[in-house]
Amino acid sequence: MAEQSLSVFKTTSYQEKPFDHELSFGRTFTDHMFLMDYSEESGWHDARITPYQPLQIDPAAMVFHYAQSVFEGLKAYRSPEGDPLLFRPKQNLARLNQSNDRLCIPQVDEDFLLEALKQLIHIEQDWIPHTEGMSLYIRPTIISTQSFLGVAPSTNYKLIIILSPVGAYYKEGINPVKIAVENEYVRAVRGGTGEAKTGGNYAASLKAQETAGKDGYAQVLWLDGVEKRYIEEVGSMNVFFKIGNEVVTPRLNGSILNGITRDSAMQLLRHWGYDVVERDITIDELYDHYQQGDVKEAFGSGTAAAISPIGQLDWGENKMVFNNGETGYLARNLYDTLMGIQYGQQYDPFNWVV
Ligand code: COI
Repeated sequence: MAEQSLSVFKTTSYQEKPFDHELSFGRTFTDHMFLMDYSEESGWHDARITPYQPLQIDPAAMVFHYAQSVFEGLKAYRSPEGDPLLFRPKQNLARLNQSNDRLCIPQVDEDFLLEALKQLIHIEQDWIPHTEGMSLYIRPTIISTQSFLGVAPSTNYKLIIILSPVGAYYKEGINPVKIAVENEYVRAVRGGTGEAKTGGNYAASLKAQETAGKDGYAQVLWLDGVEKRYIEEVGSMNVFFKIGNEVVTPRLNGSILNGITRDSAMQLLRHWGYDVVERDITIDELYDHYQQGDVKEAFGSGTAAAISPIGQLDWGENKMVFNNGETGYLARNLYDTLMGIQYGQQYDPFNWVV
């Protein structure tokens, strides 16, 4: 990959920053963004930090038609000393390239991108909220920009990083949510794009989410796309169950996102001495364990919400209530520990924070 340089063009009209209590998730954007272009002749080039602004893109750009795009999500947190901290950013950039590979998008230079991201965060550090539980969400995305209607990998791309100061992702925060097992729609199939972080997976999830929402559920539990028996994810998060003395999470089978919070939760649980098992688990098996009184806790993990306890899981007529519908011990400890590490308030045994 060619040596790259980064140009910085600062804005002349700074926005008034919102108060932390006014923030929800993903509605406010900062003064600057990062951009970089790809062409077959020049590879990735023209890396620049510019004022946040609309993009001018040809309506024939391939991303609008065939959805060849990928994205990432990570956060910057404010340490007690006021410094910006990133949580495992190299993992996000490595996953970006794994998604790129699946979507036939050219690889990016992860080291260069990390340095560019650090510079962007440095410029925008005043946007990192001061309130605990709030952070600056970082959204890198790559879109295909060649003007062409043939179905083929694009010859041109744009990589964009925007920043958004955020509060809680779910209005429930760390409070338990009610989930419906999804029996009709599927999110992804093996051999498809489920393991990649690509917009199409999220588009495919909307119908189920909308239907479940009308019935009073926060999200759905996704089953596999072939037999509709194996548990895969919950909403846009990975999922964990404490069954007896084990913590079980579906193994990465190709249709499940390799979550960085999932991996962090597994490492913490193992560090604390728990048996964490990555394996196939069907909804029937879960229900059997539930009826025997063995399912102590269930929770989702993801960057946006960190840890989200499942209070109730409805599988048709079968209702499962975990930990009396309250936040369980593991979910609470994982949430508190992740927060403590991410905000630089407690010892980081794995050197996750940058
Ligand atoms: C996450 O949990 O971080 C997600 O994947 C949700 C995000 C797409 C908003």
